[in-house]
Amino acid sequence: MFFSAALPLACLPSQPVQAVEGGSATLQCSLDPPVDLSSTAVEWNRGHTRYVHVYRSRRDDPDSQMLQYRDRTALNHGDLSRGVSTLTISNVSLSDNGSYEVYLPQRGVRCSTHLTVAAERRNRVLGVLIPAAFVIAIVWILVKLGVIRKF
Ligand SMILES: *[C@@H]1O[C@H](CO)[C@@H](O)[C@H](O)[C@H]1NC(C)=O
Ligand SMILES: *[C@@H]1O[C@H](CO)[C@@H](O)[C@H](O)[C@H]1NC(C)=O
Repeated sequence: MFFSAALPLACLPSQPVQAVEGGSATLQCSLDPPVDLSSTAVEWNRGHTRYVHVYRSRRDDPDSQMLQYRDRTALNHGDLSRGVSTLTISNVSLSDNGSYEVYLPQRGVRCSTHLTVAAERRNRVLGVLIPAAFVIAIVWILVKLGVIRKF
């Protein structure tokens, strides 16, 4: 495989991912051609230097990741041998919203994908309040119009 380092290597991100606060999100980038990444350094970053998850020397390196991602990230090691970098972030929070980059320092290859985080609790409350307010408004109008008699 002496040629592989010289071959142009494309990094293809998955579609942007959506997640709900407290849920989990799986971000993915695939290499074309699918070179084996298991003995290569693989970084997931926000910006160029803020480490979300670092894999080097054939293992995860949790000491270098940002504190906010500690114990929340999992890199799929099986996928690395197929040239795919799959990162699962659990207990997603609103501050996780934004773009994420895969960087392969030895190959100078990078690509980025986007995670959109939705606030769950607020949506759930609004999802109940808005229809309830609508029903109350309709009843009030019908009472005013005399369609429904006052009790
Ligand atoms: C999930 O994250 C929130 C902060 O964003 C934290 O308060 C909570 O304890 C975490 N839950 C779990 C199960 O780790
Ligand atoms: C999430 O990020 C996108 C783009 O980076 C931004 O447009 C959007 O407003 C962000 N959402 C929240 C809830 O911060």
